[in-house]
Amino acid sequence: MTSYQTTYLKDYQPANFLVETVNLTFDLAEDKTIVTAVIDFHKNAQNQSTERQLRLNGEKLILRTIKLNNKELPASEYSVTDKELTLLQPPENFTLTLVTEIEPQNNTELTGLYKSNAMFCTQCEAQGFRRITYFLDRPDVMARYTTKIIADKTHYPILLSNGNLVDAGDLADNKHFVVWEDPFRKPSYLFALVAGDLECLTDQFITQSGRDVALKIYVETGNRDKAYHALYALKQAMRWDEINFGREYDLDIYMIVAASDFNMGAMENKGLNIFNTKYILADPNMATDDDYQAIIGVIGHEYFHNWTGNRVTCRDWFQLSLKEGLTIFRDHEFTGDMTSLVANRIKNVRQLRAYQFAEDAGPMAHPVQPDSYIEINNFYTTTIYEKGSEVIQMMKTLLGKEGFRLGMDLYFERHDGQAATIEDFVKAMEDANHFDLTQFRLWYKQAGTPRLHITRHYSPANKEYTLTIKQICPQTPGQKDKKPFHIPIAMSLVDRTTGQELTLKVKNTDTKKTTKQILELKETTQTFIFSDIPQEPVPILLENFSAPVHLDIKLSEEELSILMMHANDLFSRWEAAQTFFLQIINQMIENYQHNQNFSLTPKFIAALKANLTNTDLDPAFITEMITLPSERYICGMQTKIDIDAIHHSRRFILKTIAQALSGEFLQIYQNNSDHTAYKIDQTSIKKRQLKNLCLQYLMLVEQPGYTELCLNQYQQSNNMSDRISALHGIINSPYPQKKDCLADFYLNWKHEPLVVDKWFSLQAMSNRPDAFDEVLKLTKHEAFTIKNPNRVRSLIGAFSSNNLFHFHRADGAGYEFLANYIIQLNSLNPQIASRLLEPLTNWRQFDAARQDLMKQQLKRIGAVSGISDNVYEVITKCLQ
Ligand code: BES
Ligand code: ZN
Repeated sequence: MTSYQTTYLKDYQPANFLVETVNLTFDLAEDKTIVTAVIDFHKNAQNQSTERQLRLNGEKLILRTIKLNNKELPASEYSVTDKELTLLQPPENFTLTLVTEIEPQNNTELTGLYKSNAMFCTQCEAQGFRRITYFLDRPDVMARYTTKIIADKTHYPILLSNGNLVDAGDLADNKHFVVWEDPFRKPSYLFALVAGDLECLTDQFITQSGRDVALKIYVETGNRDKAYHALYALKQAMRWDEINFGREYDLDIYMIVAASDFNMGAMENKGLNIFNTKYILADPNMATDDDYQAIIGVIGHEYFHNWTGNRVTCRDWFQLSLKEGLTIFRDHEFTGDMTSLVANRIKNVRQLRAYQFAEDAGPMAHPVQPDSYIEINNFYTTTIYEKGSEVIQMMKTLLGKEGFRLGMDLYFERHDGQAATIEDFVKAMEDANHFDLTQFRLWYKQAGTPRLHITRHYSPANKEYTLTIKQICPQTPGQKDKKPFHIPIAMSLVDRTTGQELTLKVKNTDTKKTTKQILELKETTQTFIFSDIPQEPVPILLENFSAPVHLDIKLSEEELSILMMHANDLFSRWEAAQTFFLQIINQMIENYQHNQNFSLTPKFIAALKANLTNTDLDPAFITEMITLPSERYICGMQTKIDIDAIHHSRRFILKTIAQALSGEFLQIYQNNSDHTAYKIDQTSIKKRQLKNLCLQYLMLVEQPGYTELCLNQYQQSNNMSDRISALHGIINSPYPQKKDCLADFYLNWKHEPLVVDKWFSLQAMSNRPDAFDEVLKLTKHEAFTIKNPNRVRSLIGAFSSNNLFHFHRADGAGYEFLANYIIQLNSLNPQIASRLLEPLTNWRQFDAARQDLMKQQLKRIGAVSGISDNVYEVITKCLQ
């Protein structure tokens, strides 16, 4: 029987022993791998408890030998369970030698040491190292690692681990060995090992202080030419961190390995990152523009962890956002600088509203610093990541660019080489700026998305404008009453006819007179008065999304149109479009529910058109402006979900816009079509993305001429972006021969797994009436396997979390389908199983019939015997 144990932040205790050095030897072979660990332990003076025993974590290990100070340990002095090895009476200082046996070839969970195709690789975060040897597998136990790897020379010519290569040589029986030494102390979760027959793309980087760093990207044979973009992104990231944060790389070698079987996106192991192939491999034929952009972000992310995560690591897993939220913040800034600031900010806000707002409103809501967990792998959430990043962003808004940098510098200065806490970070920000963040800390402790209610009043008599802002944070699991947050509200007031910003000053404060103000909301209700305002202005609040909150403000269609067309700040134009759109769709949803007709105000179309045809605007911004909210985004912004109403209303809006602006779409399609050689510079990417969005609109018009255009693009394109975009247009249209296109595409690309994933996703997300039947058929396709996480995500994941209309079919077949896969994956790969549960978690937001059907499946999964901690935790929290 499994016991489900909850870990609490309040119970944190330093480990009772610490580790100086870890000496590992891996003897890799096909039937079993032998791991010899020689570990130097000493008593930790920081630990207050009287516990004599040393309890080491260990899972799925066979213990072959145990020696203490080189002497075989008698059975009476230790005990072993399937989770722990306990030394009953260890001395204060000693060397432990452990020989354990593991079977990486049978490891389907893909944590610890496992095989991906012919390659051995590891994934140790959060608690995978304990599946390699017995250890104090917690991030505050930091040690120096030396790793010897022995393997067959023919099958595993490349043998890698963290740090620097210090020895290598040949052995008997066609074997060879290498020894790697990592000079930096690190927690076990940053350990990595790779062995395989890999190709390598090599370069070098000279750091700002003039040190030479060897860069090496390892990929499976045949893929070397697909690693250039990742290499480019890496060099950009290294330079960017020097310029923007003064952070230099610290080892002489930086290695990245691409693995086909990988639970997550990528992992920041010290000096040896391991990536999902999806975020390394790219060439014009197989990768889309989005893929190229995503690679920049992920390469940046894992590189930036070298300082925010590795040099300064986390004391315990409750501090996860200390490294993840902060590193997301850094990779967002990097991606913004590399692509388009405003378009990138818009993408991130979209993501937050579609995913994090939904999480915060449901049974899985938790603070950025949670106070308990059952399975830590369930806490790599959008709240820890994206909301955590927004909390950092708010500090930057409050402290200013320079103040924020001072805080970062102080944080690194104080905590380099340590396992730190979120409190340490906030304290550094506070101390560097003499700024009180006491109330601000609530952002880490209280879950839920606050709502701001705005009332506005203009007095023509004394030319005063008054904003009254009220904050309310809804209840979340375990948190009934919330204290008011400290919320930075970036704002401006604009002239209601020209849209130009007014110069302002908040009455009774000593802030400067400027066009942009940062209001600091600290009370439940607060009033801000602006004087010398000649006529009633239009307010722009939460500029650049200055806080992760909902904003309730009633603006008229005229006001929203002015903002959409004339706001100086482009983000605010986009935001006005979102507000306008949501007002429109909410009205349509009501009409749908009362069997009334739809109609779309020409004001909205006119405001879109003004942006679409404005050639002064960056095409990346235009693309964002005319990309309407997805079904998920709409759901994230609502408390009750009527998926049929949302789907039909949204389709109506899209089609109406497509018809009204088809001339413009065609023109822009043509203007941005480039018949010269394919290029992937930012200008070309932005034009191509705009062009392809126009094509999607044209396909909604359902005219033979446009279908022709789309088919031509499909047949003649010289790159994957154009090809997949055309295929997308075709399969979502009534075009009768689309099956041929799909077959043709598969035939051409079946040798390229990442492209086959796209082929599955495209069909999984189709809005055609037979989408679900097609998904069912695809599960029987020769290329489908549940052993590969990318493939599972591309079909099962894409369908259930991105095809909401079909997934939530009224008969519940979508739910049953998903539950079947979760049950299968529960025993193979519990991390993937538990992540797949997400679309069922917000069952309370649906109508009674769907609630019952969803609950039924949750209960069915919960009743399966041998349910993993991962799935158990999500199920129980959902059903509570
Ligand atoms: N440290 C994580 C990878 C990780 C997550 C390992 C969960 C084990 C469990 C890594 O830095 C990360 O955050 N990766 C993201 C991609 C990133 C660009 C947001 C991922 O894998 O999704
Ligand atoms: Zn990360």
